[in-house]
Amino acid sequence: MLYEQIQEAITFIRSKTNFQPQFGIILGTGLGNLSEEMEIEAEIPYREIPHFPVSTVQSHKGKLVFGKLGKHSVVAMAGRFHYYEGYSMKEVTFPVRVLKFLGIQHLIISNAAGGTNQHLYAGDIVFIRDHVNLQPENPLRGVNDERLGPRFPDMMKTYDQALNAKALEIAHQNGIRAHEGVYVGLQGPNLETPAEYNFLHTIGGDVVGMSTVPEVLVARHMDLPVFVASIVTNKCYPLETLTETTVEEVIEVAQNAEPKLRLIVKKLLNHIA
Ligand code: HPA
Repeated sequence: MLYEQIQEAITFIRSKTNFQPQFGIILGTGLGNLSEEMEIEAEIPYREIPHFPVSTVQSHKGKLVFGKLGKHSVVAMAGRFHYYEGYSMKEVTFPVRVLKFLGIQHLIISNAAGGTNQHLYAGDIVFIRDHVNLQPENPLRGVNDERLGPRFPDMMKTYDQALNAKALEIAHQNGIRAHEGVYVGLQGPNLETPAEYNFLHTIGGDVVGMSTVPEVLVARHMDLPVFVASIVTNKCYPLETLTETTVEEVIEVAQNAEPKLRLIVKKLLNHIA
């Protein structure tokens, strides 16, 4: 069923473009405007693609953008889906399935996150080296289709260490504050209470956000390598430094940091291919 739905989406996309992307990029908060730098070959609104959910968050656009970023062939998801919007985990992750079947070899994901490590400040970039999944529901729940991946995917090598090391090197060469860290995925949409930020710090979380984990699970289920970068938009630890956070602040901090992350991602692609 899921497999057939993916094929239907692919057939539709292939009726619109034969462009062959090597990289898939989820333009979350922090890379939202990357498509401005692309030499665009084709754009397909999500609402036209069979079985795609439709985006509800205003700051996100809802289309697949195919084209060149520098010399690299990419497909960008301009607009992503969150569980808190009411979609099922299967819906949230359907586009990642489709990107894999379009033939991408790497998935690059960005997000905005709260920093639950005392060394992190608003505007810092964190390359994710591991995660803790505290989201309800799992996109892999239900009958497993072996054509997509194994029933019990191993999670030891979820994030590519070598890519993170390279990304750190690129950041430091360019004077950009960046770190590696553990992402904790929560449902949202509310931010966390002080007690919860304290808990997230205690369990080993460096950053906390409301996205990414389902997409990573589905990508790794299909053996697709992932690279994830979070932009710290609000400092959440130590608790004395906590202040109220608005979505406007989160978006503003992420937008200010975006050029740094764009630069890193572009140089990282050059390194990979
Ligand atoms: N918590 C959860 N998600 C977030 C945060 C946060 O503090 N900041 C940005 N996304």
